[in-house]
Amino acid sequence: MPKHSPISAKLPVLWHGGDYNPEQWSPEVWKQDIELMNEAGVNVATVGVFSWVSLEPSEGSYTFEWLDQIMDLLAKNGKVAVLATPSAAPPAWMAKKYPEILRVDADGVRRKHGNRVNYNWASPVYREKVQGIARVLADRYAQHPALAMWHVSNEYGGEDFSEQSRVAFVDWLKARFDHDLNRLNTAYWSAFWGHTYTDWDEIEIPGQPYGESSIHGLNLDWKRFSSDRIIEFFRLESAPLREITPEIPITTNLMGLYPVIDCAKIAPFVDVMTWDSYPAFNGRPSEPEMWVNIAFIHDLYRSFKQKPFLLIESTPSSSNWYPVMQLKRPGTHELEAMQAIAHGSEGVMYFQWRQSRGSQEKFHGAVVGHGTENRSRVFKEVARVGQELPKLNDLVGISDPSEVAVIYDWENRWAVDDAVGPILKGKNYAQTCTDHYRAFWELGVPVDVIDSTRDLSSYKVVVAPMLYMLKPGVAESLSAFVANGGTLVSTYYTGYVNESDLVFEDGYLAPLRHVFGIEVEEIDAFYPDEAFAINGFDRKFHGHTLCEIVHPRGAEVLATVSEVFYAGSPAL
Ligand code: GLA
Repeated sequence: MPKHSPISAKLPVLWHGGDYNPEQWSPEVWKQDIELMNEAGVNVATVGVFSWVSLEPSEGSYTFEWLDQIMDLLAKNGKVAVLATPSAAPPAWMAKKYPEILRVDADGVRRKHGNRVNYNWASPVYREKVQGIARVLADRYAQHPALAMWHVSNEYGGEDFSEQSRVAFVDWLKARFDHDLNRLNTAYWSAFWGHTYTDWDEIEIPGQPYGESSIHGLNLDWKRFSSDRIIEFFRLESAPLREITPEIPITTNLMGLYPVIDCAKIAPFVDVMTWDSYPAFNGRPSEPEMWVNIAFIHDLYRSFKQKPFLLIESTPSSSNWYPVMQLKRPGTHELEAMQAIAHGSEGVMYFQWRQSRGSQEKFHGAVVGHGTENRSRVFKEVARVGQELPKLNDLVGISDPSEVAVIYDWENRWAVDDAVGPILKGKNYAQTCTDHYRAFWELGVPVDVIDSTRDLSSYKVVVAPMLYMLKPGVAESLSAFVANGGTLVSTYYTGYVNESDLVFEDGYLAPLRHVFGIEVEEIDAFYPDEAFAINGFDRKFHGHTLCEIVHPRGAEVLATVSEVFYAGSPAL
């Protein structure tokens, strides 16, 4: 079994802790926090996530003294810090002085200052400021004994529709199509509805109200561009940290299956993949559905780098942004924590340590609730996890190899969601992947969850549900996998389009027809209550979502539909 190095030699055990915002509290509270952290078995605190204005209250003047004290307090008490760069929340003075740093929404309106992650990726001023504060932080804390990991920004996300972003997008397209507009027009099938471009500057960002949204290749490239942009921004923000503290690992907290960032593409630039998990148990922790969904994402995050990941945020009790904010029932928290460890997390971390008295998240769960210190059920449940984790420290660095892989691919998801037909909503790509994953989960078979371009040679079984888009090389890789004895499982809606969302000239599944030994003639959609009789069975079977009418071209047919329209068609 491969053994990886711990995240940091400064804390070579399972991590237990979470987001800590001491700038909201007095030094007396800090002292109490440290005592409570000791009692709860907390060994790590994420600090500085939203601290820009507390560190730089006016341009170029810094107030690091409070953070110095916190870092010292943590180190003195045997704890480490995950130190954040504060770019998720630019200070108000900055937005006032440089309005160009603010994001422009799809309607073309520039946002006002406020909330968070409200900045423009393309703003040269913001890029300079973000690198500047990262450099100052790295210079100041490079040698600090508490510094164990960098937490770059917070939950990167969203798209920017400013003119700067449009120009950058057009440049990105020029590079993608070798400055050849004909190639772009061909890839986008833009002759349809007469959308042929005659000049690069005619290209607008798709998806704006009253604007272009019908060219699916363009939509897809905008999504690719937006994801690339975030990754580029992350790398830019990380650059001073890499330069000044090359030995300190870097992460950025990602959001599970959040669609805007292709996490397979950011993974090579991140040292530890981390994600924020906030499932809605809705008071029904005994139902497996939610647990399967979480397991799937844990396995995805472990598989990105084939090494342990970190659950960097979770709620110890409830998340206040659900329409109904239900508390985790007794014992659920420990189960959730242990599930993360079992899937390869190097620890269990929370948002947040102490509940804020005011603003948006004053009712979001926290380890230390309002006025309850160590007396609450939640604190006690967290402290119990704090007692259990050290017993599992032998698991640090362990990542079990899997013989089964389920393919989950971001670009494929974008294309599936965008396709107009055969059903408009609810094609359920992620759910279909999770449903297939569940079969292995129920048997306790370890599964990797991987991107479609990954090397498949180490697997015995590959499950590729709804792999509608075959990126270059993927059909070849799946064919070689099967030729070498691998078992490939697939579903409807596989092998329809190329990387520009153009249907394969030879039809659906064409690049993989020889692998499956079937030809797909048509695709159809079901209403939820449709049921079919199948020859040889004395009951009806329900269909859901989509189906295909296929013809065997070498495949052995085991069952056929016995009724009306589909009669005689192979049934699965
Ligand atoms: C995210 C953020 C945190 C906090 C939590 C609340 O994960 O990163 O700052 O807002 O959501 O669930």
